Amino acid sequence: MKKLLFFISVAIALSANAQKFPGLALTPPMGWNSWNTFATNINEKLVMETADMLVSSGMKEAGYIYLVLDDGWMAMERDSITGNLVPDPVKFPNGIKKVVDYVHAKGLKFGLYNCAGTKTCAGYPGTRGYEYQDARQYAAWEIDYLKYDWCSTDGINAKEAYATMSKALKAARRPIIFSLCEWGTYSPWEWAAPVGQLWRISGDIYNCFDCIKDWGSWKSLGVTHIIDVRKNIRQYAGPGHWNDMDMMEVGHGMSVSEDRAHFTMWCMLASPLIAGNDLRHMTKETISILTDKDVIAINQDKRGVQAYLEQQQDSVDTWIKPLVNNELAICFMNRSQKPVTVNYNFLQHPVNDTVSNTVIDFAKTSFSVTDVWKKVKAGNTKKIFSAVVPPHDVVLLRLKQE
Ligand code: GLA
Repeated sequence: MKKLLFFISVAIALSANAQKFPGLALTPPMGWNSWNTFATNINEKLVMETADMLVSSGMKEAGYIYLVLDDGWMAMERDSITGNLVPDPVKFPNGIKKVVDYVHAKGLKFGLYNCAGTKTCAGYPGTRGYEYQDARQYAAWEIDYLKYDWCSTDGINAKEAYATMSKALKAARRPIIFSLCEWGTYSPWEWAAPVGQLWRISGDIYNCFDCIKDWGSWKSLGVTHIIDVRKNIRQYAGPGHWNDMDMMEVGHGMSVSEDRAHFTMWCMLASPLIAGNDLRHMTKETISILTDKDVIAINQDKRGVQAYLEQQQDSVDTWIKPLVNNELAICFMNRSQKPVTVNYNFLQHPVNDTVSNTVIDFAKTSFSVTDVWKKVKAGNTKKIFSAVVPPHDVVLLRLKQE
């Protein structure tokens, strides 16, 4: 009897500790978020048209499943009697469930945004003090993803606030991906894996390759600045818990080369792939970048290893991402405004990655090389790989043991 009581109390203790739903986001989540292009100008029609486009553009087929409404979906006040969140009656005249149902009927999943503080970043009602009530509301609407921001949080402890919301979601008994957005301020990679599936590592992205946009009290970061902002956090990424480089800016103002480099690096870094462009007006190039199955396969690789920076030379970064079956992705990213010729002698670059326990000596083992974007074979690792990397662009290779 004593033994039984002991096992029951251990089981209860373990289940209380196991906060987040298991089994979610075993590869980086893929989808679309409204913020980068539309800010708070969102409505029912946009959601429906975007859901239609996710399907007809081939994005759903490529893996973009989550349609996430960011800030601006709510009315300015909670319901005065129940305290429930209220959708903006003009933007969503038929309520949130209506759009959730529409999105679900397309075989997609639906996400919403709120904030750990008293107000969202755009000034709508935040969740502080309403965690369990809001989680029940989200479950009742059958949402699948919650992005949870960090504005108006004076005096609040981040680790506790995110743990509380995670528990509230769990208590609402619906598997909802929990996306932490505290910009890396309190090093979420150190504590958030038991709490959520992804955490932002930086301030907001800006749709330029390497600029910084200064807004006065805060700054937004171009693509290369997000890549550079955190060193040494790749060991925290893995199946079910990802470093989030922010929603993408592909198809939102940069050149095709820059879009390709940006997208490739998000794939290499095992970042969630959340598109942020207007899907209703995409060029062929944008669609072909966002839906390239071979590049996405590198992001969605089941090993879930984030790439490491192997070297920086002549303005070109070499990034390496160990993949399943001892395969490798290698990305050369040209940061400069000029074309750069890369001559990469594999024999001089053995792989010794302690994070993923990958050791490869190209002098002993030969790999075939494929140029992933060009879809051509590029010899093997016994010979020097030579290519011109255009300005603000990448060359991406996949290596397979011969
Ligand atoms: C913060 C987040 C953004 C976006 C806005 C909404 O800035 O980092 O991604 O959600 O708030 O107001």
